[in-house]
Amino acid sequence: MTALELVDVDHGYAAGSGRVEVLHGVSLRVEPGELVALAGPSGSGKSTACHLAAGIERPDRGAVTLDGRPTADIADWSQVAVVPQQHGLLAGLSVQDNIALPALRARIDATEALARLAAALDIAGFLRRGITETSLGEQQRVAVARALVLDPRLAVLDEPTGHQDDDHVGQVIEALAGAARAGSAVLVSTHDQRVWEVAHRVVRLADGRVQG
Ligand SMILES: Nc1ncnc2c1ncn2[C@@H]1O[C@H](COP(=O)(O)OP(=O)(O)O)[C@@H](O)[C@H]1O
Ligand SMILES: [Mg+2]
Repeated sequence: MTALELVDVDHGYAAGSGRVEVLHGVSLRVEPGELVALAGPSGSGKSTACHLAAGIERPDRGAVTLDGRPTADIADWSQVAVVPQQHGLLAGLSVQDNIALPALRARIDATEALARLAAALDIAGFLRRGITETSLGEQQRVAVARALVLDPRLAVLDEPTGHQDDDHVGQVIEALAGAARAGSAVLVSTHDQRVWEVAHRVVRLADGRVQG
């Protein structure tokens, strides 16, 4: 069964006194167990597509669904988990509590998953630190761990390797590939060729349209 489906999506924003139309007739699907990379130059609409896929926004036209339900109606992190481009961590909480938050909310014991992800993403050494006491790259890996801690049906990650050095890029890629192997549908927006190489498919956006 198809997990994530975008069907003929148009989306834009009010800008000044006018509007900017960002996405035009975008259709894409991500199956369970599939890692799909969303490529395209800056401004092509990758983050907009990620917001719609994750249900942070509703499309102006067309449909964005997970297993047939609009993603914007789904508030359950075990269904849809996201790494926004700005990471979206809670500054008042420690690294560990940020990662554990989706599990706490769902009353699920994620101790094992948290330990596994902390080791895999080189987070174990600073779990008790406050978010504000970590680097941007560290915060990005914390956001990846938080997205994957509940083995979500769908994970949407917006440029999740953008702040990483080579070794840590490899760790993030392995975590994403592992999530797909475990059955998640994974959509990752990225310029990073190393992610394209492990992805099952690369969907290219240009000026808000899917290419090819
Ligand atoms: N909230 C917004 N309001 C107005 N314009 C926006 C907004 N978000 C994105 N845009 C515009 O939409 C276009 C695509 O942006 P975005 O989806 O962030 O692309 P990408 O992630 O590929 O760089 C850009 O021209 C950007 O300026
Ligand atoms: Mg972007």
